[in-house]
Amino acid sequence: MTDTHPKKVLVAVAWPYAQGPLHLGHIGGAYLPSDIYARFRRSVGDDVLMVSGSDVHGTPITVKADEMGVTPQEIVDKYHPEFLTYWDDLSIDWDLFTTTGTETHKRVVQDFFLKLLENGYLYTETSEQYFDAAAERFLPDRYVEGTCPHCGYVDARGDQCDNCGKTLDPTDLIDPRSKLSGSTPILRVTEHYYWKLSAFNEPMLEWLRSKEGWRPHVVNFAVGMVEEGLHDRAFTRDLDWGIPIPVDTLGPGKSIYVWWEAVMGYLSAPQEWAEQQGTPDAWKAWWEDPEAETLYFVGKDNIPFHAIYWPALIMGHGGLNLPTNVPANQYVTFSGAKASKSRGVGRPLGWYLDHFESDSLRYALARSLPESNDSDLSDEEIVRSINEELVATWGNLVNRVVSMTNRYFGGTVPVPGTLIEADHAALTSRTETLDEVSQLLYEVKLRAGIARAMAGAQDANAYLNDLAPWTTSKTDMERTGTTLWVALQMIAGNAVAFSPYLPETSLLVLEALGTEVRGRAPVWEAPGVRAGTMLGELGPLFAKVELEAPS
Ligand code: MF3
Ligand code: ZN
Repeated sequence: MTDTHPKKVLVAVAWPYAQGPLHLGHIGGAYLPSDIYARFRRSVGDDVLMVSGSDVHGTPITVKADEMGVTPQEIVDKYHPEFLTYWDDLSIDWDLFTTTGTETHKRVVQDFFLKLLENGYLYTETSEQYFDAAAERFLPDRYVEGTCPHCGYVDARGDQCDNCGKTLDPTDLIDPRSKLSGSTPILRVTEHYYWKLSAFNEPMLEWLRSKEGWRPHVVNFAVGMVEEGLHDRAFTRDLDWGIPIPVDTLGPGKSIYVWWEAVMGYLSAPQEWAEQQGTPDAWKAWWEDPEAETLYFVGKDNIPFHAIYWPALIMGHGGLNLPTNVPANQYVTFSGAKASKSRGVGRPLGWYLDHFESDSLRYALARSLPESNDSDLSDEEIVRSINEELVATWGNLVNRVVSMTNRYFGGTVPVPGTLIEADHAALTSRTETLDEVSQLLYEVKLRAGIARAMAGAQDANAYLNDLAPWTTSKTDMERTGTTLWVALQMIAGNAVAFSPYLPETSLLVLEALGTEVRGRAPVWEAPGVRAGTMLGELGPLFAKVELEAPS
């Protein structure tokens, strides 16, 4: 992909349930990758819209509220603001991070429902659903647990099996038990809207098979699921915490299933954003223009929803863009345990934010992103990669070059003399780094991208070691000046290459070198550091970290 004209890029990121703190696994799974990608596309001049929000409806919220003895809204009001502080602390730069509790979302979801109805993809039917006789309540989704019929996992939830990733209905479970009372639920007749998902078997397979450049694990999982056959799915639930059905044929106490309305957030959030801009139609450029790109950043447990169900909903609606890519990540495990909030393992994110600087943590995560396999990250590995790579290679490089410029040239960028072969090679490697990192970023190979950026910093270190300005400074100031001038160019280029990953410190470097950064992200090119520029103050970019024994 080399065309440079500005493109509309919708960076759509999984909506976290507002029912508990996030973990580093969520950040590595979806939020950091999307932010890196969005920053990069802004840097190459594209019109990026990065949106998500808190998923506030459904049984994930009500089960939690029941457990805590509070209202669902109180749960949401606790966690949504907490999420906003994470984004701040980690420099995750949203265009909008909203919630599914807005009026705009409700309108968009209800209109979507009516459109599906009009297009013949929704119908009503009675069926038997689980009911807790003691609690006198229907038991949708997470109110029932039992054994997964696909893999035999005994703690599968009624909405999805955490072990094999398959989506489930409560009635699929073997040996079901009620979350409310622990008793065996009974079946009771209820009426619901059903979604004619079975109509999408063929188009879905064809569409998925046409996808090039998708991660193999994503396509394979999705194709495998569709090949097993898509069946009609209930579209509504016996739950009043959610978006009401816009036609009143089924009576009260029913809502649209949380997953089907949450994915519609990808459509409602851009509309809310556009309303806030005072240009209510602006969202259409991302959704209705077939030239626009849409990338969904999610964890692997969300693959069915983003690679199958949401695309099928989009097909059923018509007139809207299908996903360009769903670069789902596998899991990051932390010394063996899956960091998932739904299973309550792993340390809370706040702990990491207290112990590490934002860019340092972003670095340690980015270099271990689970793009093709699960990856494991220990405290030791986080500390090691920060100290031995980020600080030792990149931080020290910048520090050395800036201090030598201060020492030998009073902090002014020296005027270069005649360039020798090694200088030319160094300047070429600087643009190669940017080109190759950009290639990897376009392909959403973010982990390889940061490794390539670090290799660029190593090139600069090798150049410095070869030309040893600390030695030439004793005999040849012109040579020393030329070497430092080249090294400063390399640093500036490398700061741009690092900028999607390390936004805060890259900006500090670029500013100290006197290169102008307009807008939200530096332009993706090697900026010229001009001779005669007085360098700005620049302390150490990253602190070396030492961890006390983990608590
Ligand atoms: N709330 C879901 C989860 O945490 C993700 C929802 S993504 C959406 O797994 F697209 F459906 F919103
Ligand atoms: Zn399973």
